Formats: sequence, structure tokens, C-alpha cells
Amino acid sequence: MIKVGFYQFCPTFGDKRANLHKIAEALERAEADIMVLPELCTTGYLFTSQEEVNELAESIPGPSTLFLEDITRRKNLWLVLGMAERDESAKQCYNSAVLIGPEGYKATYRKAHLFFEEKLYFAPGDTLFRVYDLGIAKIGMLVCFDHFFPEATRALALAGAQIICHPSNLVLPGKGQQITRVRAMENRIFWILANRYGVEERGGKKLLFTGASQIVAPTGELLAQAAPDGESLQIVEISPAEANDKRVTAMNDLFADRRPELYNIGYGRACAPSGSL
Ligand code: ACM
Repeated sequence: MIKVGFYQFCPTFGDKRANLHKIAEALERAEADIMVLPELCTTGYLFTSQEEVNELAESIPGPSTLFLEDITRRKNLWLVLGMAERDESAKQCYNSAVLIGPEGYKATYRKAHLFFEEKLYFAPGDTLFRVYDLGIAKIGMLVCFDHFFPEATRALALAGAQIICHPSNLVLPGKGQQITRVRAMENRIFWILANRYGVEERGGKKLLFTGASQIVAPTGELLAQAAPDGESLQIVEISPAEANDKRVTAMNDLFADRRPELYNIGYGRACAPSGSL
């Protein structure tokens, strides 16, 4: 059994120092093996210009991951958090999830499916979805809107992910919580949705984030759930190996029963031409 959790909070836009200290304080209290934090949780979400993104985003690894490494090393903790990443060589910024562990920085995943005005400021990630074996569990990372694309979760599940770590800033009420519950069920995997709460109002725009972070079992059962509003640190015990069993009945294994030869969805909108009946 391992302990996994989320920390739901309300980052202050632009104040990385305050946000990192809030995170540090929460992580000091967390007796867990894996913790997940929200999307863009060191900077806030509602950017109003590219200059603002460029200024607040940082290299990964960089100052913020170094700060957090100190905690993950000391506490023997795996941490997944959402951060704005600046790639100096590509002169681009990414909405990224970062994996930091007991031996320091481990990996970055760049959000592949950008939501709404994120497309103005961030480049989409373009690397294959990848599973990381932490020794205690095999994890995959997705960032917020990625959950709307079942192929992304399926790719990670087929590659052996037992837990999806999902930093989020969900804004469509109720949807993300329902979708991620279904993704967990249809792939028989654990899901840690770390969502932020609160309101951001900047440059004449306003967003309300929906909180309600949750941890879902491969059966779809909710193991933990936060309120839509307010700070919440929750940790549960799970056995990641439960996610290796894809059976829903004695005669149905969700992976063995797949019929990829009929789906034909590779690239584009391939399907059989519609004919007349
Ligand atoms: C989102 O992808 N932040 C909704």
C-alpha cells in the first residue's frame, strides 16, 4: 500500500514566492508517497499578455523545482505539479506538469491539448505520452483539458500507467470531475485530480475555478473528494497493483476485449464511409 494525495488551494496570481511557500507548508504536513498539485500553481492561470507569461515562466529544472526538491528529498516524496515552463532555446513557453522525487527533478510533461486562450500564450507539447515507473507505482501525467481526449488516457493506460496524476484548473462546472471518474473506470486505473479553487479576475476577464479535487479508484469509486471551494489536503492509501487487473466481469477484460482493428482512428477522422441503408 502507498499513500497518495492532493493539495487543493488558490494560488495568488503572479506571486511565485507566496505560492511556493504555501505549497511548502502544505507538503510539510503531508505524510504521503505521491502528492499532486494544481495546474500552473506557482504562477496562477489568467495571463493577459505574452510578456507576462515570459516573465513568470521559468526553466525546468529551475529555481522553483530546486526549491521543491529540497522538500521531496527530505520527505522521500514524489510530487507532480503544474508550472509555466520557459524553454530558452525554443523561445517558447509550455503549460507543463513536472515530476520531482526523492532524488530530485525527474521529468516534464508539456500539455498537449491547450484550452481556450492558453493557445495564445503557450505552445502545445509534442512528445509521446510516457509512463514513469517510480518503483512504488507507475504513473502518467496529464494537465487539465487533456482529460477531454480519451486517447491520451488510453495511451498512458495501455503503456502500463496505474495512476494518472492530473494537475488542473478546471472551469467548466462538474464536467472534469465526471469525465475523470469515467476515464478511471474505463481504463481501470487510479486518478488523482488536483484542481484549484477560487476566482481570478484580470484584464477584464474573470474565471471561477471549480475545486472538487478527487481521487478515484479503478472501479470509479471516489476515495477522496474536496469541496468546490476552500483549501483541502487529502491523502488515501491505495494499492497501485489493483490497476493491473482490467476485468469488469469474469468474462470481460477491458484491454483484452478491445477491438482496435475496428476502430481505425489513427490520424484524422477515419471511419467507414457512411452508406445508404
Ligand atoms: C484547463 O485546461 N485549464 C481547463
